[in-house]
Amino acid sequence: SPSDPDLVERARAAKEKLGDKVFVLGHHYQRDEVIQFADVTGDSFKLARDAAARPEAEYIVFCGVHFMAESADILTSDDQKVVLPDLAAGCSMADMATAEQVAECWDVLTEAGIAEQVVPVSYMNSSADIKAFTGKHGGTICTSSNAKRALDWAFEQGEKVLFLPDQHLGRNTAVRDMGMSLEDCVVYNPHKPNGGLTADELRAAKMILWRGHCSVHGRFNLDSVNDVRERIPGVNVLVHPECKHEVVSAADYVGSTEYIIKTLEAAPAGSKWAIGTELNLVRRLANRFAPEGKEVVFLDRTVCFCSTMNRIDLPHLVWALESLAEGNLVNHIEVDKETEAFAKLALERMLALP
Ligand code: 13P
Ligand code: SF4
Repeated sequence: SPSDPDLVERARAAKEKLGDKVFVLGHHYQRDEVIQFADVTGDSFKLARDAAARPEAEYIVFCGVHFMAESADILTSDDQKVVLPDLAAGCSMADMATAEQVAECWDVLTEAGIAEQVVPVSYMNSSADIKAFTGKHGGTICTSSNAKRALDWAFEQGEKVLFLPDQHLGRNTAVRDMGMSLEDCVVYNPHKPNGGLTADELRAAKMILWRGHCSVHGRFNLDSVNDVRERIPGVNVLVHPECKHEVVSAADYVGSTEYIIKTLEAAPAGSKWAIGTELNLVRRLANRFAPEGKEVVFLDRTVCFCSTMNRIDLPHLVWALESLAEGNLVNHIEVDKETEAFAKLALERMLALP
């Protein structure tokens, strides 16, 4: 739906008043009404890097979710302020691994006598606490665009990886990109004693996957792929690696949101694409590529927005920009110093991956 012209004008005026003092980042899953005000759009990797590359901006307004704003705060200087237009924009996947649960897991690995062999690799979609745990234990962060490189690096440091918190990205990368088998992976369930695993199972595993997932991407299944192939002969199936293994295995292409966009940009006219990721992005791509004769459809028949990404809407963005323009720092995301130091270590290991 078109955005309210009054709000559009207010956002524009507040941004103009702030000038170079503000830099607005927009994740690809954001609404169109928000994306139109982003100075840069990207996947989580690109946005983390771009936030760090704007030292002149006093305010970084992050149109995305909480863990992204935290990561931006960790990677920017102390006098830069990161603002999340709605504090309720969390991520259900990131919430699936708490600091207490992960510390308990490390005790279980220690008990089993394998902790020294384990390198933690944590998906960007995790709290600053989990990133700090990762940094403290010699591990790295990854995103969906560098998960293979992160795992390659980790297996040079140790024999086993504890992958947090997205079991699907961990499994898909291990099996699809690294030649491991499904049997090399075990799932650690934080709600069961000892993760629901025996010490022998832990010792035999190469990948210890945390039992977390994305509820948005979890909606796609093998039927979604089979249905769309039947409905649209010749369709290319392109999905995000947060999808279940059965979906990724049946897809033609797999990658991050940025990869999805680049793939469609390079696709020939007349090609047909079914995309397995969040709906704001898929709709935007469908509209963008239709004039070029590229057909882009959503992988499933049911709608699939990320409800927390969607919390950032134009009214929240206007409120944040106008508050900043009036000198009121609102919704400031600030990670405490100790957490920040260890989390930064893990994030910098990611940024230094070959
Ligand atoms: P990317 O933008 O890195 O592909 O991640 C998708 C996502 O789910 C972010 O929450
Ligand atoms: Fe989290 Fe999934 Fe939403 Fe991404 S799409 S922010 S992983 S809930």
